[in-house]
Amino acid sequence: MTIILEAMRQASGDSKRDEVIVPAYTCYSVPASIERAGLRPRLCDVVPATLGTNPEVLRRQDFSRVLAVVSSNLYGLPNDLAGIESVCKEQGVLLLDDAAQALGARVDNRAVGSFGEAGLYSFDKGKVISTIQGGAIVCRPGPVAERLESAIATLPASGLVERVGNALKLGIYSVFLRPTLYPMIRALPFTGLGHTVYKTRFPIARLSNFSTAVATRLIGRLDELASARRRNAAALTAALEGEPGIELIRPLPGSVAAWVRFPLLVSDPDRRARLIAAFERAGIGATASYPRALADVPAVRSRMAPGDTDYPGARRIAQSIVTLPTHAYCPPDLPERVRKVIRECRN
Ligand SMILES: Cc1ncc(COP(=O)(O)O)c(C=O)c1O
Repeated sequence: MTIILEAMRQASGDSKRDEVIVPAYTCYSVPASIERAGLRPRLCDVVPATLGTNPEVLRRQDFSRVLAVVSSNLYGLPNDLAGIESVCKEQGVLLLDDAAQALGARVDNRAVGSFGEAGLYSFDKGKVISTIQGGAIVCRPGPVAERLESAIATLPASGLVERVGNALKLGIYSVFLRPTLYPMIRALPFTGLGHTVYKTRFPIARLSNFSTAVATRLIGRLDELASARRRNAAALTAALEGEPGIELIRPLPGSVAAWVRFPLLVSDPDRRARLIAAFERAGIGATASYPRALADVPAVRSRMAPGDTDYPGARRIAQSIVTLPTHAYCPPDLPERVRKVIRECRN
């Protein structure tokens, strides 16, 4: 994201445009990448029912210093990308379609990540495909792509220690990352699983040949991996439909989600805390996702462009979200067990 934004800024030639609009609830590495690119985040509130940016709310933002807008497509559920794209066109700003979690998702048969000028996919842990870290960038031909290509050509190769460490971790995770073992693995501090930190010191390097080979192989299995997640998400939806106090997130009409996780909202904060603990005891890898709205992350708060003063949608999501696993190793009785835990944790 950092090098995409740097390329966008160089291509725009307008140094006054130093702001990037981001959804007020997304991964902390998004504003961290913006800071690393020497830019400032401007937060746009999101809609709990979709977890994404509402184009109407976006349209009301102050675009006078905006370089680009970033989407989120959290958990692989596509945002209203056509709507966001048309606001960007109206305002003359660039769209960076953040498909970190949404490889394989589509909107009206168009790949998520391909909206706007450039997009990215993450191959980090727990994504649709994983090489433990790294990812891929896609970009439309033109001035941004040209600058990106020359920036990438000068990136260092990833270091030997990192490459060997990565290969080892990949082997270990592929053996142990089963739902029943997830809580145990997550407890190991070096994995970083389940933790969200704001960090601007991270290496920017080319994907190693080994990781590229693993990613290429996994992309060949994308349909198989994606359909397992879709099946699991459909089974969870069927099991949890109509459960009192539980709000499911529906993919927007015309979209196909990648379902990297299965998100739901639990309106009562006390019940949500009890639920997370009960899932843990039951060996179900549930998470409370990103713990805060970006406006409540001190490092973001101190840098963000002055704009809206409240972010009710983002805060509500941060207080109520629970995500469940959808990957191919989920046992067939997971939806039933999830429903049982939810029913036992009634108010
Ligand atoms: C929406 C979004 N953008 C960016 C990232 C960062 O990707 P990575 O983990 O590869 O740094 C994530 C990670 O989960 C994400 O969810």
